[in-house]
Amino acid sequence: MIVIENVDKYFGKFKALDNVSFEVRNGEIVGYVGLNGAGKTTTIRIAVGVLYPDKGDVLINGYSITREKRKASYHVGWVPELPIFEPDAKALDYFVYLAGYYGIPAGEARRMGRELFEKVGIGEAADKKLKQYSQGMKKRFALAVSMINNPDNFLFDEVLNGLDPEGIAFFRKLALEFKREGRAVLFSSHILSEVENLADRVVFIHKGRIIAVHTMEEIKSMAKPALRIKTDRVDEGLVKILGEYGEVRVKDDAVYLINPSIDSSSLIEKLSQKGYRVEEINRVRPSLEEVFFKIIGEQK
Ligand SMILES: Nc1ncnc2c1ncn2[C@@H]1O[C@H](COP(=O)(O)OP(=O)(O)OP(=O)(O)O)[C@@H](O)[C@H]1O
Ligand SMILES: [Mg+2]
Repeated sequence: MIVIENVDKYFGKFKALDNVSFEVRNGEIVGYVGLNGAGKTTTIRIAVGVLYPDKGDVLINGYSITREKRKASYHVGWVPELPIFEPDAKALDYFVYLAGYYGIPAGEARRMGRELFEKVGIGEAADKKLKQYSQGMKKRFALAVSMINNPDNFLFDEVLNGLDPEGIAFFRKLALEFKREGRAVLFSSHILSEVENLADRVVFIHKGRIIAVHTMEEIKSMAKPALRIKTDRVDEGLVKILGEYGEVRVKDDAVYLINPSIDSSSLIEKLSQKGYRVEEINRVRPSLEEVFFKIIGEQK
């Protein structure tokens, strides 16, 4: 379980993170979505303990990353946005070297490395130098490294970038396996369509602030066809009437009737019979991408 608590981060005078809080529960896959520069990588770097927050803390399985770093980071696997490896090292040798940081003896690390390399699909390339690895192979190598200590929590920063469709499908399978095993998975992406197939929940960050957290169910219902209705007043009576024709959502000054079982003109008639004046009614069908931009747009 990953709990991010009220984290602030400054780079000089620039506030990159402003009171960021959210959690990733065990057995849950959370997508971390925002535009370039929103603060995703900064959050992840703080959560894995390579960057120090100016305020707040991150708890990994209950251990503070700032006060109990060794214990906390032992339970975290991290795939950085731009993994940096020793280019002249052979992949398996380098894996063994990194495993040394976790106190794993060389022989055991080598066995474990072969197993993990098979798992992530680079078994054949174990003895190749890392500089001979393609972008996708580097990501797979980074995935194997993130699994060295068999952690309960994973943070993947733009892990899908540079992967081909087969690589994306592989990552999806792996993330779902982690979920089944009760691990917590956070993965950042600025493309919502990538997140759509995978995340149970989506945390939206914009200009360093968490602006929304939605379950995938909620996002999908936002993306269903709906009637957006503006009436002279919104009250329980209105919600009850609309409830007979679909799912009702009240947002700002409008009411949304999701998957309506009635057409607009019949609905206007029904409502006026009950004393509601319809000022505006239109059909809306946002795509997931639009849901994302709508959430972000509301913040401006
Ligand atoms: N080391 C640093 N020094 C100064 N500014 C930084 C540093 N790291 C990040 N920033 C700034 O903090 C903000 C957040 O950056 P971050 O890398 O967290 O964004 P991101 O959401 O990961 O973006 P992307 O989608 O492009 O990966 C940006 O404005 C960035 O310029
Ligand atoms: Mg980033």
